[in-house]
Amino acid sequence: MEGMTNSAVVLADTAAYAVAVEEASQAAAAYYATGESTLDDDAYDRLARGIAAYEQAHPQEVLAGSPTGKVAGGAAVGDVPHTVPMLSLDNVFSAEQFVTWTASLERRIGRPVEAWSVEPKLDGLAVAARYREGRLEQLITRGDGTAGEDVSHAIGTVVGLPGQLAEPVTIEMRGEILMTTEQFEQANTVRTEHGGAPFANARNGAAGTLRAKDRPYTVEMTFFAYGALPLPGSGELAGTLAELPHSEVLAQAAELGVHTAAGTDVAPRTVTTVEDVQLRVEEIAALRASLPFGIDGIVIKADLAADQHDAGSGTRAPRWAIAYKLPAVEKVTRLLDVEWNVGRTGIIAPRAVLEPVEIDGSTVGYATLHNPADITRRDLRLGDHVMVYKAGDIIPRIEAPVAHLRTGEEQPVVFPEACPQCGSEIDTSEQRWRCVRGRNCRLVASVSYAAGRDQLDIEGLGATRVVQLVDAGLVADFADLFALERE
Ligand code: IVH
Repeated sequence: MEGMTNSAVVLADTAAYAVAVEEASQAAAAYYATGESTLDDDAYDRLARGIAAYEQAHPQEVLAGSPTGKVAGGAAVGDVPHTVPMLSLDNVFSAEQFVTWTASLERRIGRPVEAWSVEPKLDGLAVAARYREGRLEQLITRGDGTAGEDVSHAIGTVVGLPGQLAEPVTIEMRGEILMTTEQFEQANTVRTEHGGAPFANARNGAAGTLRAKDRPYTVEMTFFAYGALPLPGSGELAGTLAELPHSEVLAQAAELGVHTAAGTDVAPRTVTTVEDVQLRVEEIAALRASLPFGIDGIVIKADLAADQHDAGSGTRAPRWAIAYKLPAVEKVTRLLDVEWNVGRTGIIAPRAVLEPVEIDGSTVGYATLHNPADITRRDLRLGDHVMVYKAGDIIPRIEAPVAHLRTGEEQPVVFPEACPQCGSEIDTSEQRWRCVRGRNCRLVASVSYAAGRDQLDIEGLGATRVVQLVDAGLVADFADLFALERE
């Protein structure tokens, strides 16, 4: 868990505090309305922590519009009341903070927590899906936690939320709606084909899509349940749900046909010790980069209903659950240039040059762009603000331009007309462009590679010798190697 960013913006005086509150409210409003926040998550968190620190030191100056202590930073609206508030979660950022939190929870309930559920913190939007007698009737956003917005128009476009449950029960499924990486790519392809601006990342895509009505196209999203509640009319199911451990509630949801994280590499696990929680946290953190959907942390919950009941809830968050946040893996930066490099096989690959940005403890100055079509499809322009993603050891990539930050000054990316290495023509017949000379474009590199130990393993044929052979005109083509004579 190194490189964890939990620093705060330092606010020097009342004026700086007021500006910060204004900026945070605007960002929260944009984030929950369209997903188009001007701040990335990390920047928002640092601002919110700065505001909270200032308010702690100057309690008499707290502004009514402050996001502190409010679900969704006080931004969201809605007119469908929730039967039980849809709360947020408190955060920890390290193993030490987690241990301190468990100790305070155990002090509060007066006994050790019997079992913990450790599950992914899915990076999407919280929704409540109301099923009446097995039929999906209403889909509601979290809103301000007490009332949300009716987004039932999205029913039918969300994988994992069946129209009909396996049994005719009345129940509310709560969970997260998100776009998988594949759905996000698909959404941006369809949107740009329809002349729309691409979504900056999967979360923005889910936020924008969930609220949009009357679009001429539909894009798919995915639901993951992380809880279930009775509704008026649930009958005896209400009593059962109130007594079941959280892990069994999730199992029931899955049995009814609703999607959960159970089938994924980061499936919820029930463990009994804090050490085992920490081990699973580390496993999930390590799996993050390879998941087909975004997570921004791990949620740890007291599993037993009795432990949850005795812990109770505050106005913003339950006391029996905590979000163990992982470092932000996405940042907004600028696309300064696109370089075109010729590989050993003659492939001409674009690479994005970025305004250097720190992500998860390292500085990112470049990102991969797969091929020229990728640039066109994403409608990338020089000078664009772009959302850059980097997790674990993976090569940083651009998710999409942040279209609403465009100024009009952005310039088109210039594509090469001749091979940047040797000046020959470019074969553009495939998605990946290639110098017509193929391997012979970078002859020294490709012959040295072929002669290497793991390939042909030609003893005595190192890079120096290859340069001599090429310079002497003895090798002009890869095949010439085999026609060389002793002299
Ligand atoms: S439990 C009362 N479990 O994170 C318990 N929430 O930052 C509240 N989230 O509002 C929710 N994955 O939208 C829970 N496995 C998970 C979750 C999860 C993502 C979201 C949820 C919540 C937010 C808090």
